Amino acid sequence: MSRSNVPDAPSIHGLWATRWVFILAAAGSAIGLGNIWKFPYITGMHGGGAFVLVYLLCVLLVGVPIMIAEILIGRRARVAPINAVTMLARESGISKRWGLMAWLGTIAGILILSYYSVIAGWALHYVLQMASGAFVGADAATATNSFNTLKASPLLMLGWHTVFMAMTIFVVARGVQAGLGRAVTWMMPMLGILLFALVGYAMTTGHFMQGMHFMFDVDFSKITGESVLVALGHSFFTLSLGMCAIMAYGAYMPKQQSIGAATLITAGMDTAFALLAGLAIFPILFAHGLSPDQGPGLMFITLPLAFGGLPLGALFGTLFFVLVILAAWTSSISLAEPFVAWAVEKGVGRVKAAVLIGAVSWFLGIFSLLSFNYLSVDVFAIGGKSIFEAMDFLTTNLLLPVGGLLVAVFVGWGVKETKMMKELGMNNQALYIAWRIAIRVIAPLAILAILLNFLGVLGTAR
Ligand code: TRP
Repeated sequence: MSRSNVPDAPSIHGLWATRWVFILAAAGSAIGLGNIWKFPYITGMHGGGAFVLVYLLCVLLVGVPIMIAEILIGRRARVAPINAVTMLARESGISKRWGLMAWLGTIAGILILSYYSVIAGWALHYVLQMASGAFVGADAATATNSFNTLKASPLLMLGWHTVFMAMTIFVVARGVQAGLGRAVTWMMPMLGILLFALVGYAMTTGHFMQGMHFMFDVDFSKITGESVLVALGHSFFTLSLGMCAIMAYGAYMPKQQSIGAATLITAGMDTAFALLAGLAIFPILFAHGLSPDQGPGLMFITLPLAFGGLPLGALFGTLFFVLVILAAWTSSISLAEPFVAWAVEKGVGRVKAAVLIGAVSWFLGIFSLLSFNYLSVDVFAIGGKSIFEAMDFLTTNLLLPVGGLLVAVFVGWGVKETKMMKELGMNNQALYIAWRIAIRVIAPLAILAILLNFLGVLGTAR
């Protein structure tokens, strides 16, 4: 699949066809359930404005510099993250054990994929539900009941989880370029348009300003050490950072592309999608007298309500959930890619590697889906959380920030600066210095402070 029209040495997996394909792939990975499903519900659970502000600061001060660093590692090495980090460590004469960092990330990806696929499966279920007209004229009780029924049916969830995992494996097995490069080009703009339309509808609910206030009025008394950690973790989750996904994609990036510009565009689009999703969902929620701390069901309850009350709602609702699935799909493949690329470099066939990792992840996902019914918190709890909650918390809020911290230290302090500078090719000296300070000092300190603060809070609470 290598492309002869690309003027530099490609990785053995091929290269993205053009600069835009890289940006679309990175944005496709970033924009997903994290933006449409997760961001609104965690904002709701952590009190709104102050949480949003902390999240935005984390994206800018921690996420963006680390994304640049991840892409840098990938593009310089042109191999799978595990091999890339080991190779650059050797080149700079530092310990090869840094490779463990990429192992950690690769494994985190598989864990995240396991529950990500369960939630994406919910969206698949809702496509059929919307299309059947089940929500035409629905009220809050109908929408809530419908979601509860889904959560109570492990077999239904297992079916959809299986379908989504198969979709993911299918694309990863074919190679990222052929399947995804093409699809994201038209899917993402369409999702954007529908989201704008939904915000337009939210404006007509009469509760738009209430939604705005909830999202943007900053009241720090509403957040805790845990909220700050969740905001940090989410900035990693939503930008696909901390587990080498963007690093893997960076390996396929054309040489002449500007890493800084690609990062800013990706992060900007991702943030816009999250804020728009919030502006669509909260007004609808308030208009129906529902509370914002619904948890993971938030999107699955509010959107059917919104579409149920609209002319042609069944049609547009179906379309919307189809696009949510497409967004999730372009993200889930990036969770599997680091492992698959590594396996391919070890000589395993791409198809075999994709099926293997899909099967492992599928199996793990079963525990998450059972935690919504048979294995609920009352039956089986890990630190007071259900299996799904614990998986999400552990991966998003601990593994990803730790992964990001290691990337920052590796690029900021570990590898030789001259080599990296050349790869980055940043012409603007001031921007370069800003990035350097961010990656060496600001990002690591911020992550450490937030992690320690959280652990300290835990310590005093016990
Ligand atoms: N960013 C995606 C989302 O918001 C999820 C995702 C894809 C991800 N790849 C990742 C999260 C890598 C963490 C790490 O839905």
